[in-house]
Amino acid sequence: MVEHTEGNATLLLDALHNEQRALHVAAEFLRAGRLVAFPTETVYGLGARVNDPDMIRQIYSAKGRPQDNPLIVHVAHRSEIDALVEHIPGAATKMMDAFFPGPLTLVLPKSAAVPDIVTAGLPGVAVRMPDNQIARELIAAVGVPLVAPSANTSGRPSPTQAAHVLHDLHGRIAAVLDGGPCRDGLESTVVSLMHPKPVLLRPGVVTAETLAEILGEDLVPADRLHSQRPESPGMKYKHYAPNIPVIVVGPNEWREAIGENSYILCGSDIQLSLPSFPLDAPGYYHHLREAERLGYHRVVIVCTPQVQQNLALMERIRKSSNNNHGS
Ligand code: TXA
Ligand code: MG
Repeated sequence: MVEHTEGNATLLLDALHNEQRALHVAAEFLRAGRLVAFPTETVYGLGARVNDPDMIRQIYSAKGRPQDNPLIVHVAHRSEIDALVEHIPGAATKMMDAFFPGPLTLVLPKSAAVPDIVTAGLPGVAVRMPDNQIARELIAAVGVPLVAPSANTSGRPSPTQAAHVLHDLHGRIAAVLDGGPCRDGLESTVVSLMHPKPVLLRPGVVTAETLAEILGEDLVPADRLHSQRPESPGMKYKHYAPNIPVIVVGPNEWREAIGENSYILCGSDIQLSLPSFPLDAPGYYHHLREAERLGYHRVVIVCTPQVQQNLALMERIRKSSNNNHGS
Protein backbone atom coordinates (compact mmCIF):
# COMPACT_ATOMS: atom_id res chain seq x y z
CA MET A 1 0.00 0.00 0.00
CA VAL A 2 1.12 3.50 -0.81
CA GLU A 3 1.03 5.83 2.18
CA HIS A 4 -1.22 8.85 1.98
CA THR A 5 0.49 12.22 1.98
CA GLU A 6 -1.26 15.26 3.39
CA GLY A 7 -2.37 17.61 0.62
CA ASN A 8 0.51 17.89 -1.82
CA ALA A 9 3.22 17.38 0.76
CA THR A 10 6.34 15.60 -0.41
CA LEU A 11 7.35 12.77 1.91
CA LEU A 12 10.96 12.60 3.14
CA LEU A 13 11.92 8.92 3.35
CA ASP A 14 14.92 8.34 5.61
CA ALA A 15 17.02 5.66 3.93
CA LEU A 16 19.97 6.36 6.24
CA HIS A 17 18.22 5.12 9.38
CA ASN A 18 15.45 2.88 8.08
CA GLU A 19 16.59 1.79 4.64
CA GLN A 20 14.30 -1.15 4.04
CA ARG A 21 11.13 0.71 4.96
CA ALA A 22 12.15 3.82 3.01
CA LEU A 23 12.93 1.71 -0.06
CA HIS A 24 9.65 -0.16 0.26
CA VAL A 25 7.56 3.04 0.35
CA ALA A 26 9.55 4.65 -2.48
CA ALA A 27 9.13 1.59 -4.70
CA GLU A 28 5.39 1.51 -3.98
CA PHE A 29 5.03 5.14 -5.04
CA LEU A 30 6.94 4.51 -8.27
CA ARG A 31 4.89 1.42 -9.06
CA ALA A 32 1.74 3.53 -8.48
CA GLY A 33 2.91 6.10 -11.05
CA ARG A 34 4.10 8.77 -8.60
CA LEU A 35 7.48 10.52 -8.89
CA VAL A 36 10.22 9.84 -6.33
CA ALA A 37 13.65 11.50 -6.08
CA PHE A 38 16.53 9.23 -5.09
CA PRO A 39 20.26 9.54 -4.37
CA THR A 40 22.99 8.48 -6.78
CA GLU A 41 26.77 8.86 -6.45
CA THR A 42 26.62 11.94 -8.71
CA VAL A 43 23.49 13.98 -7.86
CA TYR A 44 19.90 13.20 -6.81
CA GLY A 45 17.71 11.97 -9.67
CA LEU A 46 13.94 12.32 -10.18
CA GLY A 47 12.69 8.85 -11.04
CA ALA A 48 9.88 7.51 -13.22
CA ARG A 49 9.42 4.05 -14.76
CA VAL A 50 10.94 3.84 -18.24
CA ASN A 51 7.85 2.10 -19.65
CA ASP A 52 5.30 4.67 -18.41
CA PRO A 53 5.05 7.70 -20.75
CA ASP A 54 2.37 9.39 -18.57
CA MET A 55 4.66 9.26 -15.59
CA ILE A 56 7.56 10.57 -17.67
CA ARG A 57 5.41 13.53 -18.77
CA GLN A 58 5.03 14.37 -15.06
CA ILE A 59 8.83 14.67 -14.80
CA TYR A 60 8.89 17.34 -17.50
CA SER A 61 6.14 19.35 -15.81
CA ALA A 62 7.49 18.97 -12.23
CA LYS A 63 10.93 20.24 -13.34
CA GLY A 64 9.72 22.74 -15.94
CA ARG A 65 12.03 20.86 -18.32
CA PRO A 66 12.02 21.61 -22.06
CA GLN A 67 10.36 18.73 -23.96
CA ASP A 68 13.28 18.23 -26.35
CA ASN A 69 15.73 17.31 -23.57
CA PRO A 70 16.02 13.51 -23.29
CA LEU A 71 16.38 11.48 -20.09
CA ILE A 72 18.98 9.00 -18.84
CA VAL A 73 17.75 5.44 -18.14
CA HIS A 74 19.14 4.00 -14.88
CA VAL A 75 19.55 0.25 -14.44
CA ALA A 76 20.30 -1.95 -11.42
CA HIS A 77 21.99 -4.73 -13.45
CA ARG A 78 23.87 -4.71 -16.75
CA SER A 79 21.56 -7.39 -18.13
CA GLU A 80 18.70 -4.84 -18.14
CA ILE A 81 20.50 -2.86 -20.86
CA ASP A 82 19.93 -5.55 -23.52
CA ALA A 83 16.21 -4.78 -23.83
CA LEU A 84 16.85 -1.03 -24.11
CA VAL A 85 19.30 -1.08 -27.03
CA GLU A 86 19.62 -2.47 -30.55
CA HIS A 87 23.16 -3.63 -29.94
CA ILE A 88 26.14 -2.85 -27.72
CA PRO A 89 29.23 -1.71 -29.68
CA GLY A 90 32.60 -3.11 -28.55
CA ALA A 91 33.75 0.31 -27.30
CA ALA A 92 30.69 0.45 -25.04
CA THR A 93 31.49 -2.97 -23.57
CA LYS A 94 35.02 -1.81 -22.73
CA MET A 95 33.71 1.29 -20.94
CA MET A 96 31.01 -0.67 -19.11
CA ASP A 97 33.57 -3.23 -17.93
CA ALA A 98 35.64 -0.41 -16.48
CA PHE A 99 32.96 1.93 -15.10
CA PHE A 100 29.57 0.24 -14.60
CA PRO A 101 28.45 0.79 -11.92
CA GLY A 102 29.80 4.35 -11.90
CA PRO A 103 29.39 7.97 -12.98
CA LEU A 104 29.38 7.24 -16.72
CA THR A 105 26.42 7.43 -19.12
CA LEU A 106 26.56 5.82 -22.57
CA VAL A 107 24.30 6.78 -25.50
CA LEU A 108 23.54 3.64 -27.53
CA PRO A 109 21.21 2.82 -30.45
CA LYS A 110 17.76 2.59 -28.88
CA SER A 111 15.46 -0.41 -29.20
CA ALA A 112 11.78 -0.10 -30.11
CA ALA A 113 10.92 -0.94 -26.49
CA VAL A 114 12.07 2.51 -25.31
CA PRO A 115 9.24 5.08 -25.60
CA ASP A 116 10.10 8.11 -27.76
CA ILE A 117 9.42 10.48 -24.85
CA VAL A 118 12.50 9.04 -23.09
CA THR A 119 14.87 10.05 -25.90
CA ALA A 120 12.91 13.11 -27.09
CA GLY A 121 12.74 11.44 -30.49
CA LEU A 122 16.53 10.89 -30.81
CA PRO A 123 17.80 7.56 -32.18
CA GLY A 124 20.05 6.93 -29.15
CA VAL A 125 19.13 6.09 -25.57
CA ALA A 126 21.33 7.20 -22.65
CA VAL A 127 22.02 4.42 -20.14
CA ARG A 128 23.76 4.40 -16.80
CA MET A 129 24.22 2.07 -13.81
CA PRO A 130 24.65 4.19 -10.68
CA ASP A 131 27.33 3.35 -8.11
CA ASN A 132 24.97 3.86 -5.21
CA GLN A 133 23.45 0.89 -3.48
CA ILE A 134 20.21 2.64 -2.48
CA ALA A 135 19.65 3.68 -6.10
CA ARG A 136 20.23 0.16 -7.43
CA GLU A 137 18.09 -1.44 -4.72
CA LEU A 138 15.28 0.97 -5.55
CA ILE A 139 15.44 0.16 -9.28
CA ALA A 140 15.52 -3.56 -8.50
CA ALA A 141 12.54 -3.23 -6.13
CA VAL A 142 10.46 -1.38 -8.75
CA GLY A 143 11.36 -4.09 -11.26
CA VAL A 144 11.96 -1.86 -14.31
CA PRO A 145 14.71 0.67 -15.15
CA LEU A 146 14.06 4.26 -14.03
CA VAL A 147 14.50 7.37 -16.14
CA ALA A 148 15.95 10.13 -13.96
CA PRO A 149 17.06 13.66 -14.74
CA SER A 150 18.72 15.61 -11.94
CA ALA A 151 16.01 16.35 -9.33
CA ASN A 152 16.17 20.16 -9.52
CA THR A 153 13.92 22.75 -11.12
CA SER A 154 15.19 23.15 -14.68
CA GLY A 155 18.16 25.55 -14.83
CA ARG A 156 19.05 25.39 -11.10
CA PRO A 157 22.10 23.74 -9.54
CA SER A 158 21.70 19.96 -9.38
CA PRO A 159 20.72 18.65 -5.92
CA THR A 160 23.42 16.87 -3.92
CA GLN A 161 21.31 16.50 -0.75
CA ALA A 162 17.66 15.61 -0.09
CA ALA A 163 17.06 19.14 1.28
CA HIS A 164 18.02 20.60 -2.13
CA VAL A 165 15.38 18.45 -3.82
CA LEU A 166 12.73 19.54 -1.31
CA HIS A 167 13.66 23.18 -1.83
CA ASP A 168 12.99 22.95 -5.57
CA LEU A 169 10.26 20.32 -5.87
CA HIS A 170 8.32 20.22 -2.59
CA GLY A 171 4.65 19.62 -3.34
CA ARG A 172 5.38 18.55 -6.92
CA ILE A 173 6.59 15.01 -6.29
CA ALA A 174 5.48 12.18 -3.98
CA ALA A 175 8.72 11.62 -2.05
CA VAL A 176 12.46 12.06 -1.66
CA LEU A 177 14.52 9.08 -0.62
CA ASP A 178 17.18 10.59 1.66
CA GLY A 179 20.50 8.77 1.31
CA GLY A 180 22.69 11.62 2.58
CA PRO A 181 25.03 13.84 0.52
CA CYS A 182 26.11 12.55 -2.91
CA ARG A 183 29.68 11.24 -3.15
CA ASP A 184 30.77 12.98 -6.38
CA GLY A 185 28.47 16.02 -6.52
CA LEU A 186 28.68 16.52 -10.32
CA GLU A 187 26.60 14.79 -13.01
CA SER A 188 27.89 11.72 -14.89
CA THR A 189 30.23 11.86 -17.88
CA VAL A 190 28.10 11.34 -21.04
CA VAL A 191 29.63 9.53 -24.06
CA SER A 192 27.77 8.88 -27.31
CA LEU A 193 28.43 5.76 -29.38
CA MET A 194 26.11 6.88 -32.17
CA HIS A 195 29.02 7.99 -34.40
CA PRO A 196 32.04 6.32 -36.01
CA LYS A 197 34.12 7.50 -33.02
CA PRO A 198 33.05 7.90 -29.38
CA VAL A 199 31.91 11.47 -28.66
CA LEU A 200 32.17 13.25 -25.30
CA LEU A 201 28.79 14.94 -24.78
CA ARG A 202 29.31 16.02 -21.16
CA PRO A 203 32.54 16.00 -19.08
CA GLY A 204 32.29 14.39 -15.64
CA VAL A 205 34.14 12.58 -12.90
CA VAL A 206 35.29 9.88 -15.35
CA THR A 207 37.76 11.91 -17.39
CA ALA A 208 38.21 11.86 -21.18
CA GLU A 209 41.87 10.87 -20.62
CA THR A 210 40.91 7.79 -18.62
CA LEU A 211 38.34 6.78 -21.23
CA ALA A 212 40.87 7.29 -24.05
CA GLU A 213 43.28 4.94 -22.27
CA ILE A 214 40.62 2.26 -21.98
CA LEU A 215 39.46 2.69 -25.59
CA GLY A 216 42.89 3.13 -27.18
CA GLU A 217 41.60 6.23 -29.01
CA ASP A 218 40.71 9.81 -28.13
CA LEU A 219 37.09 10.90 -27.69
CA VAL A 220 35.73 13.47 -30.13
CA PRO A 221 34.58 16.66 -28.32
CA ALA A 222 30.85 17.32 -28.97
CA ASP A 223 31.51 20.76 -30.46
CA ARG A 224 33.57 19.17 -33.28
CA LEU A 225 30.65 17.17 -34.62
CA HIS A 226 29.23 19.87 -36.92
CA SER A 227 25.91 18.11 -36.76
CA GLN A 228 22.62 19.75 -37.72
CA ARG A 229 20.78 18.96 -34.52
CA PRO A 230 22.20 19.20 -30.99
CA GLU A 231 23.61 15.80 -30.01
CA SER A 232 22.74 16.31 -26.38
CA PRO A 233 19.94 18.86 -26.31
CA GLY A 234 20.37 19.49 -22.58
CA MET A 235 23.72 21.16 -23.14
CA LYS A 236 22.19 24.23 -24.80
CA TYR A 237 19.98 25.29 -21.89
CA LYS A 238 20.59 27.49 -18.87
CA HIS A 239 22.31 25.39 -16.22
CA TYR A 240 23.53 25.15 -12.66
CA ALA A 241 22.54 28.73 -11.82
CA PRO A 242 21.48 30.04 -8.40
CA ASN A 243 19.34 33.19 -8.15
CA ILE A 244 22.34 35.44 -7.49
CA PRO A 245 25.21 36.28 -9.87
CA VAL A 246 28.21 33.96 -10.05
CA ILE A 247 31.46 35.79 -10.81
CA VAL A 248 34.57 33.87 -11.85
CA VAL A 249 38.03 35.37 -11.27
CA GLY A 250 41.67 34.28 -11.49
CA PRO A 251 43.95 34.03 -8.42
CA ASN A 252 45.24 37.59 -8.94
CA GLU A 253 41.92 39.32 -9.66
CA TRP A 254 39.76 38.53 -6.65
CA ARG A 255 40.36 41.76 -4.72
CA GLU A 256 38.65 43.85 -7.39
CA ALA A 257 35.73 41.41 -7.76
CA ILE A 258 34.73 41.18 -4.13
CA GLY A 259 32.06 43.66 -3.10
CA GLU A 260 29.74 43.68 -0.09
CA ASN A 261 28.12 40.39 0.79
CA SER A 262 30.15 38.08 -1.43
CA TYR A 263 30.21 34.33 -0.79
CA ILE A 264 33.77 33.43 -1.73
CA LEU A 265 34.77 30.00 -3.01
CA CYS A 266 38.47 29.32 -3.52
CA GLY A 267 40.58 26.28 -4.42
CA SER A 268 42.42 24.97 -1.35
CA ASP A 269 45.81 25.46 -3.06
CA ILE A 270 45.65 29.21 -2.36
CA GLN A 271 45.06 30.96 0.98
CA LEU A 272 43.15 34.24 0.67
CA SER A 273 43.43 36.97 3.28
CA LEU A 274 39.61 36.98 3.55
CA PRO A 275 37.34 34.19 4.84
CA SER A 276 36.41 31.82 2.02
CA PHE A 277 35.01 28.33 1.53
CA PRO A 278 37.20 25.60 0.00
CA LEU A 279 35.98 24.79 -3.51
CA ASP A 280 35.81 21.16 -4.61
CA ALA A 281 33.51 19.20 -6.91
CA PRO A 282 31.39 17.39 -4.26
CA GLY A 283 30.58 20.67 -2.46
CA TYR A 284 30.12 22.99 -5.44
CA TYR A 285 26.35 22.92 -5.94
CA HIS A 286 25.73 22.94 -2.18
CA HIS A 287 27.75 26.15 -1.84
CA LEU A 288 25.76 27.83 -4.63
CA ARG A 289 22.54 26.98 -2.83
CA GLU A 290 23.92 28.01 0.59
CA ALA A 291 25.01 31.42 -0.72
CA GLU A 292 21.50 32.02 -2.03
CA ARG A 293 19.78 30.68 1.11
CA LEU A 294 21.89 32.83 3.45
CA GLY A 295 21.10 36.01 1.52
CA TYR A 296 24.49 36.74 -0.02
CA HIS A 297 24.45 39.08 -3.03
CA ARG A 298 26.89 37.19 -5.23
CA VAL A 299 29.17 34.16 -5.40
CA VAL A 300 32.80 34.90 -6.27
CA ILE A 301 34.77 31.88 -7.46
CA VAL A 302 38.56 32.09 -7.35
CA CYS A 303 39.77 29.67 -10.03
CA THR A 304 43.12 28.50 -8.69
CA PRO A 305 45.35 26.09 -10.67
CA GLN A 306 43.89 23.17 -8.71
CA VAL A 307 40.32 24.12 -9.67
CA GLN A 308 41.31 24.67 -13.30
CA GLN A 309 42.67 21.13 -13.51
CA ASN A 310 39.20 19.74 -12.84
CA LEU A 311 37.62 20.08 -16.30
CA ALA A 312 34.19 18.80 -15.24
CA LEU A 313 34.01 21.30 -12.39
CA MET A 314 35.28 24.11 -14.65
CA GLU A 315 32.55 23.38 -17.20
CA ARG A 316 29.87 23.70 -14.48
CA ILE A 317 31.46 26.89 -13.09
CA ARG A 318 31.51 28.43 -16.58
CA LYS A 319 27.85 27.59 -17.13
CA SER A 320 26.75 28.81 -13.69
CA SER A 321 28.29 32.19 -14.44
CA ASN A 322 27.30 32.50 -18.12
CA ASN A 323 23.71 31.68 -17.48
CA ASN A 324 23.18 33.82 -14.48
CA HIS A 325 21.33 37.04 -14.91
CA GLY A 326 20.89 37.70 -11.23
CA SER A 327 17.13 37.31 -11.44
O1 TXA B 1 24.70 11.97 -13.05
C1 TXA B 1 23.73 12.06 -13.80
O2 TXA B 1 23.80 11.81 -15.01
C2 TXA B 1 22.39 12.47 -13.16
C3 TXA B 1 21.95 11.37 -12.21
C4 TXA B 1 20.58 11.61 -11.64
O3 TXA B 1 22.01 10.13 -12.86
N1 TXA B 1 21.41 12.71 -14.19
C5 TXA B 1 21.45 13.80 -15.00
O4 TXA B 1 20.37 13.89 -15.86
O5 TXA B 1 22.33 14.64 -14.95
P1 TXA B 1 20.01 15.24 -16.65
O6 TXA B 1 18.72 14.92 -17.31
O7 TXA B 1 20.02 16.37 -15.72
O8 TXA B 1 21.13 15.35 -17.73
C6 TXA B 1 21.18 14.37 -18.77
C7 TXA B 1 22.03 14.85 -19.91
C8 TXA B 1 21.39 16.00 -20.67
O9 TXA B 1 22.40 16.89 -21.10
C9 TXA B 1 20.71 15.29 -21.84
O10 TXA B 1 20.55 16.13 -22.95
C10 TXA B 1 21.69 14.15 -22.11
O11 TXA B 1 22.17 13.77 -20.84
N2 TXA B 1 20.99 13.00 -22.74
C11 TXA B 1 20.05 12.22 -22.19
N3 TXA B 1 19.59 11.32 -23.07
C12 TXA B 1 20.27 11.53 -24.22
C13 TXA B 1 20.23 10.94 -25.52
N4 TXA B 1 19.38 9.96 -25.80
N5 TXA B 1 21.06 11.41 -26.47
C14 TXA B 1 21.92 12.42 -26.18
N6 TXA B 1 22.00 13.05 -24.97
C15 TXA B 1 21.18 12.61 -24.01
MG1 MG C 1 20.17 18.24 -15.02
